[in-house]
Amino acid sequence: MNRRQLLLASAGLSALRAVPGVAAAAVPKQTDGFPMPQPETQLPPRLPQQDPARMLLDLGWRFHGGDIPAPAPASHNDTYLSAMAGNAIGAAAVLYDDSDWAAVRLPHDWAAAQPYVHSANVSQGYRPRGIGWYRRTLLLDPADRGKTIELQFDGIATNATIWVNGSVVAHSWSGYASIHADITPFATYGDEPNVIAIRVDASAWEGWWYEGAGLYRHAWLVRRAPVAIVSDGVHCDPRRDAAGRWHVPVVATLGNIERAAAAVTIEAALLDPDGREVTHASVAVSVPVLDQVDAALTLDVGDPKLWSVETPTLYTVRVRVLREGTVVDLRQIPIGFRTIRFDAAQGFFLNDRAVKIKGVCIHQDHAGVGTAMPDALLYWRLQRLKAMGCNAVRMSSNAPTAELLDYCDRIGMLVMNENRHFNSSPDYKAQLEWLVRRDRNHPSIIIWTLWNEEPLKSTPQGVEMTRRMVATLKRLDSARPVTVAMNGAFNDPVNTSTEVDVTGFNYYQDQYDVYHRLVPTKPIISTEDTSAYQTRGAFESDPKAHVATSYDREAAGWGAPHGPSWKMIADRPFVAGGFVWTGFDYHGEPTPYDWPTTSSVFGILDLCGFPKTAFGLRSAQWIDDAPVVSLAPHWTWPGREGQSIDVVVMSNAERVTLSLNGRDLGTQPVDRFLGNSWKMPYAPGRIDVVARRSGRIVARAAHETAGPPVALRLTPARNVMAGDGEDVQPITVDAIDAHGRHVPTTNLPVDFTVQGAAIIGLGNGDPNCHEPEQSAAHAGARSLFNGLAQLIVRADVGRGRVLIEARAGGLKPARLSIDRLAIAPPPQVAVTVSAQRIAQWRRSMRFAERPSPDLAPADGDNNSWAFVRAGTPSPPDAAGGWQLYRASVEPWRAVAAGGGTLRFASVAGRAELWIDGQRVADKGPGTAALTGRMPAGAGRRRIVLLVQAERDTASGLLGPVTLAAD
Ligand code: GAL
Repeated sequence: MNRRQLLLASAGLSALRAVPGVAAAAVPKQTDGFPMPQPETQLPPRLPQQDPARMLLDLGWRFHGGDIPAPAPASHNDTYLSAMAGNAIGAAAVLYDDSDWAAVRLPHDWAAAQPYVHSANVSQGYRPRGIGWYRRTLLLDPADRGKTIELQFDGIATNATIWVNGSVVAHSWSGYASIHADITPFATYGDEPNVIAIRVDASAWEGWWYEGAGLYRHAWLVRRAPVAIVSDGVHCDPRRDAAGRWHVPVVATLGNIERAAAAVTIEAALLDPDGREVTHASVAVSVPVLDQVDAALTLDVGDPKLWSVETPTLYTVRVRVLREGTVVDLRQIPIGFRTIRFDAAQGFFLNDRAVKIKGVCIHQDHAGVGTAMPDALLYWRLQRLKAMGCNAVRMSSNAPTAELLDYCDRIGMLVMNENRHFNSSPDYKAQLEWLVRRDRNHPSIIIWTLWNEEPLKSTPQGVEMTRRMVATLKRLDSARPVTVAMNGAFNDPVNTSTEVDVTGFNYYQDQYDVYHRLVPTKPIISTEDTSAYQTRGAFESDPKAHVATSYDREAAGWGAPHGPSWKMIADRPFVAGGFVWTGFDYHGEPTPYDWPTTSSVFGILDLCGFPKTAFGLRSAQWIDDAPVVSLAPHWTWPGREGQSIDVVVMSNAERVTLSLNGRDLGTQPVDRFLGNSWKMPYAPGRIDVVARRSGRIVARAAHETAGPPVALRLTPARNVMAGDGEDVQPITVDAIDAHGRHVPTTNLPVDFTVQGAAIIGLGNGDPNCHEPEQSAAHAGARSLFNGLAQLIVRADVGRGRVLIEARAGGLKPARLSIDRLAIAPPPQVAVTVSAQRIAQWRRSMRFAERPSPDLAPADGDNNSWAFVRAGTPSPPDAAGGWQLYRASVEPWRAVAAGGGTLRFASVAGRAELWIDGQRVADKGPGTAALTGRMPAGAGRRRIVLLVQAERDTASGLLGPVTLAAD
């Protein structure tokens, strides 16, 4: 099978390629109407590491649902201290007891586990979101001292404050923009753990769709050389000159945290798809202290292989920073050589060839997992789109996760890359700049869009904001055009279309011709169209039950069914193409029905990625390089014998012939846009369609009437998984009859057990179903909806098997065994168990004689006793002498209940340890650890350490102090 046939087979579509002189291969066995593809045998690609200084920080988080208001300080002194760096209070405090919070890993969407509640926001899918907290402890190697230490969060929904070691290091005002927090000055090394605390406010929203809640994208720890390329600091988007020769202008932005300017050499090399060097260049720069500098050079390439939708050839730009001949930093950035052009008369050109944009709008959202989309699931979804001939996605209406763009580069999917907020003020301009800096090297991105359907679009304010945003964007990326998604006002005297390169139409399809006549020099694209309604597997609308037929008949008033909508675009060469609203159903924005409906039904595929009738129609409309045919509805209608039934056939061939139980029902010339229709009395049996080109059969499809369900069946998306603790795949569950035929009408509840993997989500594509989408890791339940349900599993680590069992009352259970291969997990920052630290101490002045352990500074005296942190020695003194250290601690729950051990990792000098007025341990001269027992007891406990310094020797708390349960 060639690539296209493989894709078709994997899409569950029937196709035969007519190759002259070659006998046609057998029709893929999809005749029982089972709508899912054959299992794949390949693992999804692991994305190459572009920045080796980054490491995933997805594991080892603790989560608390709900807010934890910071306690009001009790005294003036507490107030004074709480205002100081490092001294955050409440759940942001270094010493906060999070030991009973839930252990979670990223990506994490806490809203996905919430029940549907009628009073919650309709657009967000009736799920309460609210406020939540995350904490994580992190140890840094002493060898990392001197490096730049940065935390990166790819997306936190929605607003967030991040503390590290008790100081705020970032505020985030958008769930779609990454947060890069330089924590170098705050970091601690060795035994002294760093504590990250994050308060997430998801009661805020930025969109009108389900946005999830929490740390729903990856997090990273970056440990960079002190002189290195900054994050997102390489721009290397290829250019073709007038003579047709290719170059890669490379600009690397460098930073330096040392105390002197640093001389470095930047070396850039172009590697071909096999990793062989094609060319290289280098340049020397001096990097100023605590500042940045751009190093620019050009790679002269000549005539590379081009990137295209069909052949997405990727090269790599490797940028290295050398200091005195040693490589201190490295980036490896995939790039593609392709030209893009939007023409006002002829649409979009990729590599000087007209390519109609056959796109879909998508949100980052899937059944079960919500917005916390594992990479492998994201990849699977893109493959589903590609298999129906879709060649473009618009991540409406926000910045996508970086992995989406990496996959689009690899599979040849074009991207309209979108900014969230229509706002040119500095905060929002920074979000736009971040987006362009992060994404401008991706060959898949062919156009930017700044906003969607903004009411200010035909006002002077809107024009001025757009003008400024375009200028911001073009300063960072002069290579790609910009559009905005306008719903009307295209010809208003004042409107924002004048400020952008391509006019984006949301709906208003009857205005294409008008606009083109009035502004014939301006390219047009449909940024959004269709908004058709289909409930997967339903073939009769039932407004009372909130069900929309899957015949292509229903659409929003502002949209149109799939047939006429695409015809408007396909018939007009001057319309570059379009983006269907939407590729997949998504939680929230239930339309046209709201409660108890919780998700949309706009998708070509449902919330689980099960295809609707629209999938067959779009395949017929969009696939050019292989014949396809499909038919709807299914053929299991007990009780409807003799009643009239509509059959629709969707094909891209020339003629289609339908037959029922071997009886010829006639041949029709194919209508690729609308499909072909037959009406006939229903009779059980087998309905067949054959599609012909030039008289030869090129594709077939059929449905057979199924009997009552007798057994369950489990079908994986892949019959192999990576045992890397990361790999995820959806498993389809359906019921079959005595002959093994899919029964499309079964709606039974199913129970699952899983070994060797964890269930991370459950779904069935029913927008009206309120069953929970999450379950225990190894046991869950979900009803079939119109014959199908899905469970999503994440493989455990190591070689072995994933064993899944499904059971439903009265049916034979199904068992599935999937190979789990020994694949090394991607590097993750080690998980650290949090211990209570006693970091903040007051230290007295020196005394010649041993002072009383009761000695203490007066409340409000912030001056005569020093504030010191454990790990800071007292300087040597010729006289030696006594000093007293005081701290107080509220023991965490376990110690409060059962007592624990107080451990001083390193104390210099003779010492006495007192707890709550009791002497609990002594230590002799010299430097050593000291431990003492803290008896059980809650509330504030007093700790006193009396230290006698030796002459001319540093003394006191040389290392961390921790308190742990026995
Ligand atoms: C559009 C909007 C989309 C979605 C859609 C539903 O107007 O841009 O985000 O709301 O309507 O039809």
